[in-house]
Amino acid sequence: MKSFGKILLVCGFVIAAGAGISSGGTGMDIKTQAFGRLPDGTAVEVYSLTNEKGLEARIMTYGATLVSLEVPDRMGKAGDIVLGYESLDGYIKNSPYFGSIVGRYGNRIAKGKFILDGVTYTLAANNGENHLHGGIKGFDKVVWNAEPVREEGVAAIKFSYLSRDGEEGYPGNLAVVVIYSLSNDNELKISYEARTDKATPVNLTHHSYFNLAGEGDVLGHELMIASDAYTPVDSGLIPTGEIRPVMGTPFDFTSPHAIGERIAKVEGGYDHNFVLRKGGGELSRAALAAEPKSGRTMEITTTEPGLQFYSGNFLDGTITGKGGRVYSKHAGFCLETQHFPDSPNKPGFPSTILRPGRVYKSLTVHKFSTR
Ligand code: GLA
Repeated sequence: MKSFGKILLVCGFVIAAGAGISSGGTGMDIKTQAFGRLPDGTAVEVYSLTNEKGLEARIMTYGATLVSLEVPDRMGKAGDIVLGYESLDGYIKNSPYFGSIVGRYGNRIAKGKFILDGVTYTLAANNGENHLHGGIKGFDKVVWNAEPVREEGVAAIKFSYLSRDGEEGYPGNLAVVVIYSLSNDNELKISYEARTDKATPVNLTHHSYFNLAGEGDVLGHELMIASDAYTPVDSGLIPTGEIRPVMGTPFDFTSPHAIGERIAKVEGGYDHNFVLRKGGGELSRAALAAEPKSGRTMEITTTEPGLQFYSGNFLDGTITGKGGRVYSKHAGFCLETQHFPDSPNKPGFPSTILRPGRVYKSLTVHKFSTR
C-alpha cells in the first residue's frame, strides 16, 4: 500500500488525503481530496465512499452535495447516474440544487410568510413571491463540517451545520447533522437530525437529479410511486391544500409507468408532492425507478410522509455538466423525500414544526440493483 500525504485509520477504513489508497480487506473505502475554494477562500473537500460492489459516491462539503454516483449496469459497467458539474465553480455559479442537501425548508413556503405561535415570520422570497428550498443562501450553498463515521460495515461521512437564529428569516439556532453512508448491500442512506432552541419549521431533503442510463433524457425510465394521492398546486406551484386521489390521472404511479408516457397531460411536467401510503414515521417504500436499457434500478424507502417528484422541467439546455453533457429538459429526475410543501401555512398537512427539546429525525435509503 502506498502512502499519499496525511493518512488516518478509522475502524479498518483508510482515510487518505489524495488518491490511490485502498482499504485492508473490507472492500470499503473513504478518501478525501481538495475540491476547490469559494470566492472568499474557504476550502471545499470532496469525500469518496466506495463499497466492494463497485459503487462510488462522492460528496463535497459545499451543500453536502452528492457530486457523482457511480453504479454498475447489468453488464457490470459503471456509470455516473447523477447530474452535476466536474468542478466546484459550476456549483457556485449556477446549480439548480444538483445533488445538494436542501434546507431549512425543502420546497416552497407561500409568499415567504408563516405564522407560528402568533408571530408572523418573513422569509427570503427567492422564487417569484415565494420562498424556495431555504432561501437565497440555503443549506445547499453553505460549507458543512465533515468527519468520517466509525461504524462497522459501512463507509460513512457525517456532515454538520449550524444555521443561526434569523438565517433567511427563520427563527432559532438549528443544529443539523446529515450522514451519508454506503453499504455493501448497495444502499446509500441519508439520515438527518436537527435540534433547535426556538420553534421553527424544518423540512430537509436531498436534491439529486437521477438519470439511471447516465445519458439522454429520463422519459423512458419506469417509475412506481407508493402513493394513492397527491397535492395539486396553483400556478406558483403552491399546494392548494387539497389531497386528491391519483386514480385515473397521469399521477397514478401505483403500478410502473414510463415517466414520459403521460407527461404531456401534466402542465409543465411533473413537479408535485405525492402523499406516501404509509404516512411517514416508519421506514417504508416510496418509489422504485427502473431504466430498461442499462437495467439499473433504484428503490427509495423513507420515513417521510411525502415525495416530490420533479421531472427536470426547468432544465433547458443552458447547463453543460459533467463529461460535456448538455442538460436538456428532463435530463434527470428528482425524488425528494420530504414533508409537504407550504405545510407551515396548511393546517391540514402533517406538521413541520420542530420545538426546543425535540429532535427532528429523518431517514431515506436509496438501494441500487439491476434487472
Ligand atoms: C424542486 C421544485 C421545482 C424546482 C426544483 C429546482 O424540485 O419543486 O419546482 O424548483 O426543485 O429547480
